[in-house]
Amino acid sequence: MNAIATNPTTVTGGRTRLVIGNWKMHGNLADNAALLAALRPATLTARIAVCVPFPYLAQAAEALKGSAVTWGAQDVSVHAQGAYTGEVSAPMLKDFGCAWVLVGHSERRSMHAESDQLVADKAKAALAAGVTPVVCVGESLAERDAGQAVAVIQRQLAPVLALGAQAVCQMVIAYEPVWAIGTGRTASPEQAQEVHAAIRAALDGIGAGGIQILYGGSVKGANAASLFSMPDIDGALVGGASLVADEFLRIAA
Ligand code: PGA
Repeated sequence: MNAIATNPTTVTGGRTRLVIGNWKMHGNLADNAALLAALRPATLTARIAVCVPFPYLAQAAEALKGSAVTWGAQDVSVHAQGAYTGEVSAPMLKDFGCAWVLVGHSERRSMHAESDQLVADKAKAALAAGVTPVVCVGESLAERDAGQAVAVIQRQLAPVLALGAQAVCQMVIAYEPVWAIGTGRTASPEQAQEVHAAIRAALDGIGAGGIQILYGGSVKGANAASLFSMPDIDGALVGGASLVADEFLRIAA
């Protein structure tokens, strides 16, 4: 088996740098096998993880077991079990070894009408099953242009923070400005840091300021280092670039 020698760097505040791939609805068994095999032997600065479509969780678990790479899902039900056709519960994710689940990705908020409260409920359901929720927040371009970016993020976070410090201390937050997702238009490090600092302040307000805050939105090998140089950017949530092993590994290098 491949021996893994990862040596994750700690960033400001003693937080470990974390880079999570969000495959979205991409992949097939053959392409996934090649991608997962390429991630296994990496020696990286950051901890890395992949959030794959539900049908490929078993494949990811098999391909990554015994490696330093962890895996997770992209959504979860608020219910643990029952008559909820088409839903997947947090205990099911746990069965497949998921360490992570994305909740509140902007594509779920906009295409599936997920409310701020529902997102918080999903985070709570994940925690109850021992799966770490990665709570995604972010403003639209219109909201940014109206000077509302921080206010929107504070509104999105409010029901999450209401879960209390003990819960929130077990979460990860991902700031993903909607206008930067899949557009090739990244927030500048300074723009991202400004929002990350506001998120950190909100977390500090309930005594949960030590958790990781990731940036997402067109992160690539070429722009990762400048984003990571910011004091409150602890890693990245990576969409498109996570489908290309070399590019993903460059981000986490
Ligand atoms: P992107 O996606 O890296 O392709 O912009 C990020 C995300 O949606 O998580």
